[in-house]
Amino acid sequence: MKKTKVVVIGTGAVGATTAYTLLLRNRMDELVLIDSNYNKAAGDALDMNHGMPFLDGSTVWAGTYEDCAGADIIVITAGAAQKPGETRTDLLRRNADIFDNIIHQILPHNQDAILLIATNPVDIMSYIALKKSGLPAERVIGSGTLLDSARFRYLIGQKLHIDPRSVHAHIVGEHGDSEVPIWSLANIAGVELQLSKEDKENIFVHTRDAAYSIIEAKGATYYAIALAIDRICTAILRDEGAVLNVSTMLGTYCGVEADTYLGVPCIVDRTGIRKTLELTITEQEQELFRQSANKMKAIIAELEQ
Ligand code: LAC
Repeated sequence: MKKTKVVVIGTGAVGATTAYTLLLRNRMDELVLIDSNYNKAAGDALDMNHGMPFLDGSTVWAGTYEDCAGADIIVITAGAAQKPGETRTDLLRRNADIFDNIIHQILPHNQDAILLIATNPVDIMSYIALKKSGLPAERVIGSGTLLDSARFRYLIGQKLHIDPRSVHAHIVGEHGDSEVPIWSLANIAGVELQLSKEDKENIFVHTRDAAYSIIEAKGATYYAIALAIDRICTAILRDEGAVLNVSTMLGTYCGVEADTYLGVPCIVDRTGIRKTLELTITEQEQELFRQSANKMKAIIAELEQ
């Protein structure tokens, strides 16, 4: 039986934590770490391998792009990280150049894998990966607003003293400052949330600005994004058909001509994104989503000049 294989490109804080999370949860048979600093990837692999007597048997090694061959999922976290006060889109130029190199080193070895992008600004970087790889859109996925939705559900759960796993709420649009809370559909077991306007504003601001606060405190975010990437990898490897708010290439969505990558609810399985799910949202939410789409399109237009 074919062994499952995940490659993580970029073993910085997000990539290394993602790799370790996948390993702890025994998601795949083979895990390959690739980094422009080979010694860093080799050190991470050695450090993980020393824990093998406590784990369930995945094989981990530091590799080169040849090791992308046969991979089911190639996770790309490589790139410059946000500095305190820096927006995700500030990273764009630096990371666009890095991606050009990465994608062109992957393709000779694997054109069948699912590319899972986490590098910020993730919606734009996913768009770049799609255009540069020529792979079908369903197999070029961004981590999107899955992490934002998790933060949203956590903060709502904290306010209402409810397990966040029982809170159903979406953040859609850009993984960034223009992201959109879909309060009109937020619910607990189908029951509308009882939150004041002030509580809703406070919860959303803390959701949207979470990364800034964490980066200010400790320099980077990596635990929750690693868990979000693990969730996406699991939905793919287990062919779950899970609905996850990942970033995907949209045409018209909720009446908005998006024509860019944005986070929306998608059915994720072994093929990548099986389909997107259209939400029934309010006119105000639709307008905010349109503004988020227009922000992404403007950035892409400038990049493509
Ligand atoms: C964050 C990074 C992953 O939101 O953009 O923590």
